[in-house]
Amino acid sequence: MSREVVDRLRKRLAANRLGGGEGKIDRQHEQGKLTARERIEQFLDEGSFEETDALVEHSCTDFGMEGRKTPGDGVVAGHGRVHGRPVFVFAQDFTVFGGSLSEANAAKICKIMDLAMKVGAPVVGLNDSGGARIQEGVASLAGYADIFLRNTLASGVVPQISAIMGPCAGGAVYSPAITDFVFMVEATSYMFVTGPEVIKTVTHEEVTKEKLGGAMSHNSVSGVAHFASPGDTECLASIRRLLSYLPSNNAERSPVVATEDPLDREIPELDDFMPSDPNKPYDIIKLIRWAADDNEFFEVHQHYAKNIVVGFIRLGGRTIGVIANQPAHLAGVLDINASVKGARFVRFCDAFNIPLWIVEDVPGFLPGTEQEWGGIIRHGAKLLFALAEATVPKVTVITRKAYGGAYCVMGSKHIRTDLNFAFPTAEIAVMGAQGAVNILYGNEIKNADDPEAERGNRVQEYQDLFANPFVAAERGYIDEVIMPRVLRRKLVSAFAMLQTKRDSMPAKKHGNIPL
Ligand code: HXC
Repeated sequence: MSREVVDRLRKRLAANRLGGGEGKIDRQHEQGKLTARERIEQFLDEGSFEETDALVEHSCTDFGMEGRKTPGDGVVAGHGRVHGRPVFVFAQDFTVFGGSLSEANAAKICKIMDLAMKVGAPVVGLNDSGGARIQEGVASLAGYADIFLRNTLASGVVPQISAIMGPCAGGAVYSPAITDFVFMVEATSYMFVTGPEVIKTVTHEEVTKEKLGGAMSHNSVSGVAHFASPGDTECLASIRRLLSYLPSNNAERSPVVATEDPLDREIPELDDFMPSDPNKPYDIIKLIRWAADDNEFFEVHQHYAKNIVVGFIRLGGRTIGVIANQPAHLAGVLDINASVKGARFVRFCDAFNIPLWIVEDVPGFLPGTEQEWGGIIRHGAKLLFALAEATVPKVTVITRKAYGGAYCVMGSKHIRTDLNFAFPTAEIAVMGAQGAVNILYGNEIKNADDPEAERGNRVQEYQDLFANPFVAAERGYIDEVIMPRVLRRKLVSAFAMLQTKRDSMPAKKHGNIPL
């Protein structure tokens, strides 16, 4: 081997490692951000990164670009391992032309996405970019569209995860938006289609970048992002944790993680946990943790639509997706945001063979013009559609209220849920007692000698009849009324039995979920 060629290779690789140079790396660090390469190194199992296309350069000749080339061209791409399993990763390098997307670096991203699809491994994108490389014009836009197509084709085949670790603006936001989970770093990341300047010109509205598209805006207001982390390191660690729950692709199952937690562990606290007053709130997350292996619950979309809780637990070492009404927030009512949050999570789990545990305590859908005009009919239907079409093992536990349409939606037997349990505290009815009595006996109560006594009697009569799980259990809509303390044992046994479940949808191109 000639020394000259080896030296040329070394020189190019050194230039690739240096990216935009020491000054730009310092600036990145001053802003509290890691570089693209540091991020990848922290993210992957130590020493596992194999870089591809380190020597790729752009071929743009406009705006004096011939003389401004950096090997790698502003994105670090390749594959490595997370918890020993293969993962593909790309990280935009802000030190090179602000991490902007060129034709050449889009092709690098597409190359690893294509390979990820062939081998069936997740793709993780670490975004930190000024958007389309302005000097390249439409060639850069074409690069974005090439990525969007691959995001779409990969959806439901391999998990796709995006971390926003700097700017992500304009059409660039649509790649993360198609992926399954979006992580954002507080204070250093933002996402928007049009920035504050354009907004000011068009609508005269004044807003900061942070308020418009910072981590908490997208985590708690828009719902675009699922996770917020205080820094790059925490963000990368969270992505690793999420991946530990997921299979590598849609033909696999999630990895099994050994646990010492006894499968038949009883939860005596749970027997007295349910309040006797049906209107008293309690925290459903406590119940989820009690049931889970080692009391661990990895919550997704924690800051958004808190009236529904979604996330992952393990039962007997196997990943289970949990979707639960949260009585501690808006009484666990279903509204537009909760429906959309729940539906998207359910569809992810179904696409990736993750069984679903539905925990139900729901007073119904939220009334009001805001909800009706906002399309609660269409959005609520998403959750119904998602749960009805899901063919993974499904187990529902009704802890308290299961009223009205929400009873049907939240994993009722009728939408092919495999096992339906209810606590003795369950109330399964068309609506709450007060509302029902008003409709059924409004006139009698008004005309009674003692209206209050009459109302009390009617409410009592209704509660005796419906504020329990027995009518549903008599009809077989509830398979078993269980004591709360045996919740974990029942769930473990149900999901173990359902492991070999097979179910399918009628042949079709795809359904038409009400978007
Ligand atoms: C080429 C870019 C660039 C871009 C930044 N740079 N964005 N080069 N194309 N899109 C370069 C800068 O010229 C600068 O180069 C270096 O990156 C760092 O940028 P700074 O402006 O110094 O950094 P900072 O002050 O931190 O500001 C970051 C920024 C700003 C807010 C992202 O750079 C910015 O507004 N960039 C333009 C954003 C934009 O409008 N992009 C196009 C959006 S439209 P030097 O050599 O001076 O260090 C779009 C469409 C996508 O993306 C469509 C998909 C369908």
